[in-house]
Amino acid sequence: MKSFLYARDLGDLKQALAEAQEIKADRYKYAELGRNKTALLVFFNNSLRTRLSTQKAAQNLGMNVIVLDVNAGAWKLETERGVIMDGDKSEHLLEAIPVMASYCDVIGIRSFAGLKDRDYDYAETVYNQFVKHSGKPVFAMETATVHPLQAFADLITIEEHKTVKRPKVVLTWAPHCRCLPQAVPDSFAEWMLAAPDVDLVITHPEGYELDPKFTEGATIEYDQRKAFEGADFIYAKNWSCPGVTLPEHYGEMLHDYHDMMHWTVDADHMALTNDGKFMHCLPVRRGLIVTDDVIEGPNSLVIPEAANREISATVVLKRILESL
Ligand code: CP
Repeated sequence: MKSFLYARDLGDLKQALAEAQEIKADRYKYAELGRNKTALLVFFNNSLRTRLSTQKAAQNLGMNVIVLDVNAGAWKLETERGVIMDGDKSEHLLEAIPVMASYCDVIGIRSFAGLKDRDYDYAETVYNQFVKHSGKPVFAMETATVHPLQAFADLITIEEHKTVKRPKVVLTWAPHCRCLPQAVPDSFAEWMLAAPDVDLVITHPEGYELDPKFTEGATIEYDQRKAFEGADFIYAKNWSCPGVTLPEHYGEMLHDYHDMMHWTVDADHMALTNDGKFMHCLPVRRGLIVTDDVIEGPNSLVIPEAANREISATVVLKRILESL
């Protein structure tokens, strides 16, 4: 595997889920696979789970790990071509990438959407420069439009906790005080639709339609309470306007969040479900996305979901090492 952005990069998801359980039963089973191999994890943005779980996954496989925080201690990197670099960015990505690649065997990238230029973000411009100029396998640790390590962990979690063969899974928009990217909901929708046995319903206010390349085949329900009826899993997330139906508002919040608090997932919402489990990728802002009682309640899966990030990353790094 030379690049990991999408579910299809992993191939058969049933096989990948079986591999996840194999690794969960013995996470050091492949500890020799990464001997004398180095993973470089490049963070353009903050992280808790991705940073720790991906490092742990690489260590499970016997790899050396280098973590670079581009905006804390490294030279600030210019990502555009054709600019006069007389600002605060001292180095261009096109020199930095091959230099970084010379020290490692595999590169993970976290680089969020700028939310200013939809074409630039949806072309995965920064990630693809690493693919093009590093000569090394590259994997996404949340890029402009996708977060596949999260979505794979979410799928593992749903498989582990489902009580019916084909669960109803609801991806619901929820209010937030800042403009957030669409990477998590994009990947969640894509992976649920690629999964062998999931019924996906997506609910959000009008204007927040996700890119159809990630949602084709899903049921879209604008009435959130109707969407929740009989759901087995509720996956809450905020995202800014994806610019599909309202291109001029790409990356914006379409309403004052104070006016959208009826979309917050609370006990009243959860009562509509089929004893539904609550999921969120974390970090989560309580009181906006979800109430304290729901996230702390017995049906909350946020902690096992985060723990499964180590498993999803171990499977993905194992596949990459096997392809070196
Ligand atoms: N869910 C997730 O990716 O968490 P971090 O942003 O903390 O890595």
